[in-house]
Amino acid sequence: MKGLFITFEGGECSGKTTIIEELKSTLENKGYEVLVTREPGGSFIAEQIRKVLLDKENVGMSSECEALLYAASRIEHLKKTILPALEKGTIVISDRYLDSSLVYQGYARDLGVDNVLKLNMYALNYMPDLTIFIDVKPEVALKRLSLRQGKVDRLDSESFSFHQMVYDAYLEIAKMYKERIKVVDGNKSLEEVTKNAINLVLERLQ
Ligand code: TMP
Repeated sequence: MKGLFITFEGGECSGKTTIIEELKSTLENKGYEVLVTREPGGSFIAEQIRKVLLDKENVGMSSECEALLYAASRIEHLKKTILPALEKGTIVISDRYLDSSLVYQGYARDLGVDNVLKLNMYALNYMPDLTIFIDVKPEVALKRLSLRQGKVDRLDSESFSFHQMVYDAYLEIAKMYKERIKVVDGNKSLEEVTKNAINLVLERLQ
């Protein structure tokens, strides 16, 4: 494949979206063709599946159904958006990909990483060239979240333990795939985190 496939991973309030925007403009200024995309979604059918996944009416969805829908949206995203762009030599940057399912469905929803990997791999045969995990401690992420929501009250323990579980799972996955996943300390200022993430991509391009 001529292009480069980069994914970003992290929990809530990791600053992924801002970092990706900065990375895109840095790369474009250097003359690269860049496509930014996200999961769930990123293609016509995948965006429709996204609506089903994020619809508040569907809170009762089983974890198994959820995992299969994420996998279904991912294969559409890969075939219709990611691979055609990579074939043209574009740098594709996706906000989340398979690792999110391993973490959220495999660990946090307790389906098992191997099961989630297997059900994705039934149809998926393409992994990122580079994955950047923005490592933000759950207490830092939740403080940012409460500030963003204009609330600085005590964080409830349920949301803390979920964030902690997601965080621990990301560290596990990063260990499992240490060649592919690069960890960036996300507890620092957004400027510094962005600079470090961009440097990793530039190193990879050299
Ligand atoms: P985001 O806007 O923070 O990226 O939120 C997307 C949400 O979807 C986030 O809570 C994680 C969740 N998600 C999964 O649970 N599994 C997946 O495979 C993906 C791509 C996202």
